[in-house]
Amino acid sequence: MTKGPYRQLHIYELRGRPRRFPPDWTSKGFLGCWYEEDYAFLFFSREARGVVEAFLKSHPSWGLGAEIVLPYEDWEAGCPLRPYQIGSLWIAPPWEPARPLAPLSQVLFLDPGISFGSGFHASTRTALLLLEALLRRVRIRRALDLGTGSGILALAAAAWGAEGVLAVDVQPVAVSTARANVRRNRLEDRILVRLGDARQCLGEPAHLLLANLPYEILSDLCARPEILGYPWMILSGMVGRQADCIEESLQGQDLRVEGRQAEGGWIAMLVRNPHIPSP
Ligand SMILES: C[S@@+](CC[C@H](N)C(=O)[O-])C[C@H]1O[C@@H](n2cnc3c(N)ncnc32)[C@H](O)[C@@H]1O
Repeated sequence: MTKGPYRQLHIYELRGRPRRFPPDWTSKGFLGCWYEEDYAFLFFSREARGVVEAFLKSHPSWGLGAEIVLPYEDWEAGCPLRPYQIGSLWIAPPWEPARPLAPLSQVLFLDPGISFGSGFHASTRTALLLLEALLRRVRIRRALDLGTGSGILALAAAAWGAEGVLAVDVQPVAVSTARANVRRNRLEDRILVRLGDARQCLGEPAHLLLANLPYEILSDLCARPEILGYPWMILSGMVGRQADCIEESLQGQDLRVEGRQAEGGWIAMLVRNPHIPSP
């Protein structure tokens, strides 16, 4: 049975990009808004067409489109939120008791809400596996997590020893979700979450770049000279031939793919810049 606050999602498609929402929407089940180009997708945990229509009376230029209703677990990689283990770490929803899982230091509490990054998607899992293996052998002082979503990779990097992480996402709802997860795990002094576009943030100094991003963004980043500033990179979100194209682009810049991790057709890779000493 599904535990926790989420059951059904009611998603309202809006032509327009509202930035502020009535504060009383929280009590009406509002979970957040996802932006795609000229559209906004308003997520509620219950039926709210009347609520949205009332809001639109004062913004008549924003058109209300389809309502999509789906079980929450279909949004979150087809799985209900539940505790699971990845390497030495338990990742658990905050409503689960920690004690039966493991000593508290090895548990990360994570509520992805409507942001990507529950940990059940193969693009996250493959990146996490490479991350743990790397942090077991290399001490990383500073990591940069581009496309942080729920904050899962940034949180895991901190749990596995990274001293400081800058986490960035272009969606405001992901930023607020990741910040809440950082607070929940009392990692505010080690993880900073910022709103921003990965393409503008590439170049922020770090010893490890983490990027689980749509392929177009990833391939754009890999072609930029700033990519050469990182001794280590974990890139994820590629399927099939996409990984070969990214690898070719990296090799063209004299970067070395040291490992690949694959699951269900998704591929993550560990990349090393041999011209920068490992930290
Ligand atoms: C596949 S999810 C990865 C989430 C999490 N890092 C994980 O591994 O599960 C990709 C994330 O990148 C964000 N994103 C997409 N394009 C972006 C861009 N141009 N700049 C920053 N973030 C972006 C999305 O909002 C989403 O949260």
